[in-house]
Amino acid sequence: MSLELSAPPGSEPACADDGVWLECIECGEQFAPFDEIHYTCADCDGLLEVRYANPPTFEEFEGSGVWRYNAALPFEEGVTLPEGDTPLHEVPRLREEIGVDSLRIKHEGMNPTGAFKDRGMTVGVAVAKELGVGRLACASTGNTSAALAAYGARGGMETLVLLPSGKVAAGKIAQASLHGARILEVDGNFDSCLDIVQELAGLGEVYLLNSLNPFRLEGQKTIGFEILEEHYEDYGEYPDRIVLPVGNAGNTAALYKAFRELVASGALDESEVPTLTGVQAEGAAPMVEAVQNGRDEVRRWDDVETRATAIRIGNPVNAPKALPGIYNTGGTAVAVSDDEITDAQRDLATSGIGVEPASAASLAGLRKLRANGEISADESVVCLTTGHLLKDPDAAFEAGGDPEPVPNDTEAVLEHINDGETGTLGGIAQKISAAADSPGVPALIGGGIGLAYLAYRRLRSDDA
Ligand code: F0G
Repeated sequence: MSLELSAPPGSEPACADDGVWLECIECGEQFAPFDEIHYTCADCDGLLEVRYANPPTFEEFEGSGVWRYNAALPFEEGVTLPEGDTPLHEVPRLREEIGVDSLRIKHEGMNPTGAFKDRGMTVGVAVAKELGVGRLACASTGNTSAALAAYGARGGMETLVLLPSGKVAAGKIAQASLHGARILEVDGNFDSCLDIVQELAGLGEVYLLNSLNPFRLEGQKTIGFEILEEHYEDYGEYPDRIVLPVGNAGNTAALYKAFRELVASGALDESEVPTLTGVQAEGAAPMVEAVQNGRDEVRRWDDVETRATAIRIGNPVNAPKALPGIYNTGGTAVAVSDDEITDAQRDLATSGIGVEPASAASLAGLRKLRANGEISADESVVCLTTGHLLKDPDAAFEAGGDPEPVPNDTEAVLEHINDGETGTLGGIAQKISAAADSPGVPALIGGGIGLAYLAYRRLRSDDA
């Protein structure tokens, strides 16, 4: 099975363990999955994929969460909190405003540690246990470190995380810290952290659980299975397009792998595969640069900057797996500004969906591609939101309104809120006014009721 969408399943090699093996996507070399540790090909250093003798069908899926899809995973079960089974929100106002046939938000921020990384870690930490390794490690813009710390703790294992100093949102460091990871802050960006941790892994000092580890992506594949199943249940068809934020391009690679496996088993027709559309921040957009120039390779950006710190990445290591995913599904990639990201974060919040900035990139990207006509009005679209609002409280404060200081006194509070437009009593009075022919009278009644209530409260407190 190559990275072509139509590739048939490969035949099981002698090195396979229970129908599972590792295969280099560049030279095709095959490796036993659990005898030795491999992150990349021992021959050519190409990326590895987990391959199965029997690709999955929908009928085999049962239960809920990531392990519902164990027919497509290397084990029956893993170290679980549990994860997956995230909501596929409807957003009718946004759908109408953006102008697509249907729009759903797959909110991966609803996983146990608040990001999609949990899906990868439940599998990755299980593999670490199978291999019998000691110390688990990752480089991270924050979310991977939080998930590694939590799942490592759950599995009773030591964890080490390397973070770019000063560029990780507060919620994520707090999680990694409380779950007991040893946190090393590197004076460099994410890509330098990954260089270092890869070298430590090469020396056998740590077991690497970044998405370069092919088993991580197996867990993340389940996002694709869930979207297809949920969408089909609701609409009787699969979505035309999935729009997602891109950092290291792990999810893009993982979703594409999910679709390829379903095509290989005959469960999904090639024509039913959703178009994969990646979104990056303008200040960290090497994948977009590659796609817009039709290139098969990504040029590393040494200087990256964006408010969406989760995707502040200049060297997407999974690009060789993700670019075919975008090209072979007829997809594209687009860059959005930090302000467009914040606007989208506010829009989602207005629909009750709280996400961190990187997550909102998907909606911002959809809006941009719809506005320039690259996405048409008749499409059914799913936007992936990857992390929870509380991951980055500072960004949420900046995007939201400021708290208003008020005196410790009900009458003063009442006066304060009625000066604004949305005060509760004002709101009640406004509603009564709107319903009546003579607006002033009900407003007076509404206000009168409020004052009478205050007088009553004061009498009660005098009694006490
Ligand atoms: N969204 C969020 C919230 C993320 O944390 C990440 C990656 C991405 C999107 C990008 O996903 O790498 O699969 O393209 N965060 C990693 C981390 C790098 O260390 O937490 P991708």
